[in-house]
Amino acid sequence: MASYVVVYASSEGQTRLVAERLADELRAAEHDADAIDFRAADVHAALEAADAIVLAGSVHMGRLHRGLAGFASRCAPALSDRPSALVVVCLTASKPGPEAEATMNGYVDAFLSSTTWKPDVVEFVAGALRPSRLGFLQRKLIAIVSRKEGLAVPPEGIEFTDWEALGRFARALSAWFPRVGVATRAPQRSPRV
Ligand SMILES: Cc1cc2nc3c(=O)[nH]c(=O)nc-3n(C[C@H](O)[C@H](O)[C@H](O)COP(=O)(O)O)c2cc1C
Repeated sequence: MASYVVVYASSEGQTRLVAERLADELRAAEHDADAIDFRAADVHAALEAADAIVLAGSVHMGRLHRGLAGFASRCAPALSDRPSALVVVCLTASKPGPEAEATMNGYVDAFLSSTTWKPDVVEFVAGALRPSRLGFLQRKLIAIVSRKEGLAVPPEGIEFTDWEALGRFARALSAWFPRVGVATRAPQRSPRV
């Protein structure tokens, strides 16, 4: 059994759901695991207590959560001391093909350019669009972008997250530590579906 912490930065709530599901799956595999907001008062203590760390953040307007970038920069020593993974939640992850891959790699490169931390694993997870949780301007913007892409977004929103694929990623992470404190090879990125 090992101890994982999943630190998340979420604007409309989907990355929080993703982080909580990851923690649930890790607990189901008999590890200790908590999902915690990067702004929580006890986040630094949680990092120090963990054997492995997952950072999860969403993308808006072409960039990963700004607050999480600051966090990754400030906490680089603690992150670099342990096996670690970065989970990127975005809509581009719902699209197949090399163009989407290149776009997402660009998000990661820009994010990592402001920290010395180098995650062992990067995983891309398709997010959700929930117009009711957006401000007026963001709602207008999403309406324009989705119309351009031929995507109909109902008022209650639309979820692209592949929970099965996320479960497979969590199981790969859970096999990361066969014994407490003994790091093994980091899991490979799970195949895109
Ligand atoms: C205003 C806005 C801008 C967005 N910009 C991007 C983007 O540039 N690239 C992308 O792949 N997804 C983009 N998304 C999709 C979000 O990454 C997706 O909605 C994600 O689930 C948000 O996660 P959160 O609820 O944890 O913040 C955008 C969403 C909104 C609302």
